[in-house]
Amino acid sequence: MTDLVPIARSLFAEGKGILAADESVHTATARLASYGIPTSAEMRRKYRDLFFGAEGIEQFLSGVILFSETLREKGNDKKLFPKSLAARGILPGVKVDLGTEPISTSPEELITQGLLDLPERLAEYKKQGAAFTKWRAVIRIDGDQLPTASAIHENAKRLAQYAKEVQTAGLVPILEPEVLLEGKHSRARARAVIKEALTTLFSVLEEQSVDRASLVVKTSMALSGSESPRKDTPEEVAEDTLAALMESVPRQVAGIVFLSGGQSPDQATDNLGAIIRRAREVSAPWPLTFSYARALQDEALELWKGKEENVPAARAAYLDRLAKVSAALAA
Ligand code: G3H
Repeated sequence: MTDLVPIARSLFAEGKGILAADESVHTATARLASYGIPTSAEMRRKYRDLFFGAEGIEQFLSGVILFSETLREKGNDKKLFPKSLAARGILPGVKVDLGTEPISTSPEELITQGLLDLPERLAEYKKQGAAFTKWRAVIRIDGDQLPTASAIHENAKRLAQYAKEVQTAGLVPILEPEVLLEGKHSRARARAVIKEALTTLFSVLEEQSVDRASLVVKTSMALSGSESPRKDTPEEVAEDTLAALMESVPRQVAGIVFLSGGQSPDQATDNLGAIIRRAREVSAPWPLTFSYARALQDEALELWKGKEENVPAARAAYLDRLAKVSAALAA
């Protein structure tokens, strides 16, 4: 049987983190459209190649999360993406959830789909070179009304079943209960919800006897909602984020990664730096790193515009951001 612990731990190699490049066809289409880039399967392939084909990314990336479509595609170098990443020491991972749908009893909340044929799909992804996986649950804050305890619990149950099946298949699971930034809520409310979501998750994982040492938690930072006038300082974000994590995540997990969640690239970089410093102050027991999509890609997409002649400038901006985020890990 594969020993998953060293694989999970390798995602936290010094100065390195994860590029989340697992946008579904729907999300990738919307993301590219927001930069005026028309989508097609070939344009999505070029979009992935922009980020995977950049020279030197292995200095900063331990892993890349792919969308299932991308696992089967080739870069401009004619090599399958997972193979070319692995050849540079970057672990290929894959998003295995199939997106969300409204909960019938609480239609403003979402439950994640994708458990039905998961074992078959995992076997296929493994053959295609995936070493780790991701499942994203979405938790929405609305005043004191949302999230409901039952939405948190239902999503936790699916995350636990996902984790169990992934470990059985010999792959590392990343469990992502994302607390959305959207809303008017305070940072204190975000902190409380992150804590509640993770506490519930670990109690269900315990009930289901899921191995903690070979799993990775992917979390939001504790931030004031995007519609709140409050601008959090990195130190405030760090204090509340670490407080929520210290109160809910067992020391045995392989590590914790952060999503960027709609923060600007600079915010996501500065907040990560402050979180790393705070983690040292409070002697946090787990390794920490980034697993960003938008905060690593946005500046490059702005320059790229889907055009071949813009690739060098776009890649330079991306490498510059990777270097800054990596430097934040040593803050
Ligand atoms: O599921 C969310 C992604 O893995 C992270 O994306 O950094 O743009 O929030 P983000």
